[in-house]
Amino acid sequence: MSGPPAIGRESGMSDGKPFLSVLAGERIDPPPVWLMRQAGRYLPEYRATRAEAGSFLQLCFSPERACEVTLQPLRRYGFDAAILFSDILVVPYALGQTVEFAEGEGPRLDPIRDLGGLAILDPGGLHEKAAPVYETVRLLRRALAEHHPDTALIGFAGAPWTVACYMVEGGGSKDFAKVKTWAFTDPDGFGELIDLLTAATVDYLSAQVEAGAEVVQVFDTWAGVLPAREVETWVVAPTRRIVQELAQRHPNVPVIGFPRAIGALLPWYAAETGVRGLSLDPGVPLDWAAREVPRHVALQGNLDPLLLLAGGDALRRGVASIRQALSERPHIFNLGHGIVKETPPENVDLLVRSLRGD
Ligand code: CP3
Repeated sequence: MSGPPAIGRESGMSDGKPFLSVLAGERIDPPPVWLMRQAGRYLPEYRATRAEAGSFLQLCFSPERACEVTLQPLRRYGFDAAILFSDILVVPYALGQTVEFAEGEGPRLDPIRDLGGLAILDPGGLHEKAAPVYETVRLLRRALAEHHPDTALIGFAGAPWTVACYMVEGGGSKDFAKVKTWAFTDPDGFGELIDLLTAATVDYLSAQVEAGAEVVQVFDTWAGVLPAREVETWVVAPTRRIVQELAQRHPNVPVIGFPRAIGALLPWYAAETGVRGLSLDPGVPLDWAAREVPRHVALQGNLDPLLLLAGGDALRRGVASIRQALSERPHIFNLGHGIVKETPPENVDLLVRSLRGD
């Protein structure tokens, strides 16, 4: 399956941003790189800006500070993509649900448990409440043009299933019993929540694109907790609708899907949803993914965040084996999930240097 040789970093890319070229189907060697949660608590400068902002949500809704923390990892590591600093739970908040981030405890929401609970949601208020996020995107696009002209800007949202998990459970969960029970026992009622979220997500991502996002990623962190036969209904169908409706409004904006832990369903997810990029979790065997995922889809991933925490030779070996396994496919180097907060910043430097061979 070896196609033409991969394009080198120095040649052939003068016309564009490497990250976007890979999503358009090019192979680039070494691959472009960014990391999920690249802005965050492992960086002292993030912790300082977050302390100034007060709460995490205030940081998300303060465009200058959100722009600043988005740029912090670029200054250190020169990543090929910047991801808007925000959170997937901004959408339930902007729809009118109470959302809080308790220090050290993760998110807390006033849970919605049934069809009657949807009455508190007001999709009409989305854009007004999310306006500071769109402003952050505008600031970022300008800052990148000035200081990081080869870096692409990624917007994002949670996928409807994963956002619904938090909305129904009222926070994180070990077993997702409440959301699964609702979905399984009252699919029509739960389907109304998913439909509402799907429409809101299209509007929210469109507004990010209009503000300057060049690519969007849809995070379906909890896709893998569903039984396989439910994945079409709650994961694939809503994502397909997001991809199609976004394409109607913005035909050239690639979507990257991250259906975490769906294993053998990945090639089918990629084919059915129409995503241009597929973000792979650490459990995915790369030689299998390289063979089975439709060829027009760029593969992103999938270093275990714990290898980045470990550093040293274990990290170097992990980086080398991923590069090797995906050398015949358009590949964006990334983690298989977000950076953990105990990660030493110098390990991120080692990752980028071992990838770029300097
Ligand atoms: O750099 C980036 O990746 C961009 C910003 C970003 C955040 N969250 C910032 C954040 C992105 C893309 C997300 C997505 C997100 N948020 C997901 C999907 C990806 C994934 O990690 O699975 C999910 C499930 C959430 C929900 C969420 N946000 C949880 C469960 C938590 C608490 C757990 C934790 O890590 O603290 C958050 C908080 C959060 N989102 C932080 C950051 C930097 C930490 C908050 C802090 O500073 O205290």
